[in-house]
Amino acid sequence: MNKIPPLRGTHDFIGKDIIFYNEIKKIISEMATQYDFNEIITPILEYNELFTKPLGENSDVVLKEMYSFEDRNKSLITLRPEYTTPMIRAAITNSLFNKLPVKLFGLGPMFRRERPQKGRYRQFNQINFEIFGSSDSISDAELIILANNFIKKLKIENKTTLYLNSLGDLNTLKKYKHELTTYYSKYKKELSSESVLKIDTNPLRILDSKDSKDLKININAPIISNFYSSSANRIFENIKELLSKSNINFQIDKNLVRGLDYYCHTVFEFKTNSLGSQDTIIGGGRYDGLIEKLGGPKIPGVGWASGIERLMMMMNKAKDISHDVQVVVIDELFKHQAFDLIIKLRENNFKVKFDYKYNLKKSLSLANELKIKNVIIIGEDEVKNSYFTLKDLKAKKQIKVNFDELILNLNS
Ligand code: HAM
Repeated sequence: MNKIPPLRGTHDFIGKDIIFYNEIKKIISEMATQYDFNEIITPILEYNELFTKPLGENSDVVLKEMYSFEDRNKSLITLRPEYTTPMIRAAITNSLFNKLPVKLFGLGPMFRRERPQKGRYRQFNQINFEIFGSSDSISDAELIILANNFIKKLKIENKTTLYLNSLGDLNTLKKYKHELTTYYSKYKKELSSESVLKIDTNPLRILDSKDSKDLKININAPIISNFYSSSANRIFENIKELLSKSNINFQIDKNLVRGLDYYCHTVFEFKTNSLGSQDTIIGGGRYDGLIEKLGGPKIPGVGWASGIERLMMMMNKAKDISHDVQVVVIDELFKHQAFDLIIKLRENNFKVKFDYKYNLKKSLSLANELKIKNVIIIGEDEVKNSYFTLKDLKAKKQIKVNFDELILNLNS
């Protein structure tokens, strides 16, 4: 049979990937507890309608990237492309909104049929944090501080910049979108063909286009801050002040609009210049109105998500998995003695390597390669006289020990 390749845009996690992935998971799970977020795991499959309207019928994700299929009973199912709407759905299903605020943390695979490239996959993993039921700017600031501290713990803060913007309230956005459509309509000939398609349907997205033709037109595009209501302005000032007080460095990016339709007020992204064009490692913002749209109460929400693969690409030092000891057998005749010893060592919580090779030379060379300090050798004399040879590969010394002495030596 021909070899079956993986699907385009998907990848296997092996070796160092697993070390990075587990490290990220450990750090963020601990932080979730510190910051008082409860973990949630929701299904990967959801009804298609959970995403289409809430993410925006004219957003790229809904227009071209969702993996959807008709189930046998004719219902339309989608592999979740993001986690905010499934979390809201789960909070509604499980009556979590009876007691506010609700703070949820989730981690798992998302699916978007994008054009694969470095840092952009069709199946990728996201970390997600959401606060439902608080309009207080402190909750926005708390989430940004959490993201900032997460990046610090991963030791990648020097390679990232936090960009911040406010989309104002829903009224601001409506007026601003109208103004943008009017402005871009004058440049139909000059804009990229992709942006021309967005003039009427999604003009905000032209603002963060990377196409050089669009960049020129964007220089003189209307600026959102000119459309803020006084309360939207006050909210944004408040958040900036809270972040400054907490020594969080940020830059205002008036063209930062985010790719999904549900945002208003604060939006933010942590970007890096070390990954090429897929440079956003964390993105989020406020989404007042979304929970109600999904059939929940009229309460606000704010949150962020981060792509684990992009974080992994920025982490360059993985701690190798280290073994405490390797058990080496001179001849296959003694493998049962080795087997008994390995079981006992593992019961005593040692990380034990065994290579099933029964060849002293090969096994010792593996121990050297893996930098394992201690090797226990079992051969004819050891079995006959009931002892183990413990070899310290670093000090290049070996001693004869019984089991209790072996444990004492390994612990020292
Ligand atoms: P998003 O900006 O679409 O936002 O995705 C968040 C992050 O997921 C991105 O910054 C990136 O790190 C990662 N990501 C997205 N697409 C891919 C891909 N194809 N391959 C690899 N990584 C990717 C959201 O999903 C919102 N739900 C965030 C949010 C939460 N807003 C409020 N709460």
